[in-house]
Amino acid sequence: MPVTIPQLIQWKKQGRKIAALTAYDYAIARILDEAGVDLILVGDSLGMVVLGYETTVPVTLEEMLHHAKAVKRAVKNALVVVDLPFLTYQVNPEQAIQSAGRVLKETGAQAVKLEGVDSVASIKKLVSVGIPVLGHIGLTPQSIHQLGGYRQQGKTLEEAERLMQEALDIQAAGAFAIVLEHIPTDLATKISEKLTVPTIGIGAGHGCDGQVLVINDVLGLSDWQPPFAKVYVNLQASITKAVKNYCTDVRNQEFPTQ
Ligand code: KIV
Repeated sequence: MPVTIPQLIQWKKQGRKIAALTAYDYAIARILDEAGVDLILVGDSLGMVVLGYETTVPVTLEEMLHHAKAVKRAVKNALVVVDLPFLTYQVNPEQAIQSAGRVLKETGAQAVKLEGVDSVASIKKLVSVGIPVLGHIGLTPQSIHQLGGYRQQGKTLEEAERLMQEALDIQAAGAFAIVLEHIPTDLATKISEKLTVPTIGIGAGHGCDGQVLVINDVLGLSDWQPPFAKVYVNLQASITKAVKNYCTDVRNQEFPTQ
């Protein structure tokens, strides 16, 4: 059965945790969907893990649309959410409507994700026209140059209070859920207990209503993993072995066979 936004909110009430992962192409999205992932995020992390950029900052809306269309073609049940990339929503709410409108109309995805609390006016506007929004606070990679590194956020009392307020403001603006990235477990737990909408943690501990990870980290395909990621399988090693065997077979004329 296709996952819906009201269902995510219901699951929070029932204590049923949300399992989310990123995907960027048809092949992986089909496997994740068939394996029962609840929410598939076409994250702008694609800039780093698929396109080889150093940060998510250069990612364009056209790149997000291209990958989101491929993902959406594969998915039958998971809720598909697409990141709005840097500077495609921050200028003003009208710009956010234009960008998010293209995502929903051209890809068929059900929702968009926006980083930071400065987007509250845009979130309100998007929700008012029927575009569901997933918020994202804590470590917000689009602000990496301002943050000065991929460090844990919310460590001081002042920062923790600010993040709690940001979560409440984003919820009040109408977001259906909020990603909490790389913040202390006790703060993420407190935010999750206070909000009525689900929190989806990444490096935010076990107290969130769901978890999300970058699929390349889970599959052991990344050059580098953040400290909170869990590698479930080392596909880099399996692929290297398979490709070496193929090269040997071709050179020894053992593939193709007569
Ligand atoms: O871009 C992304 O993949 C994300 C997740 C890490 C939450 O925003």
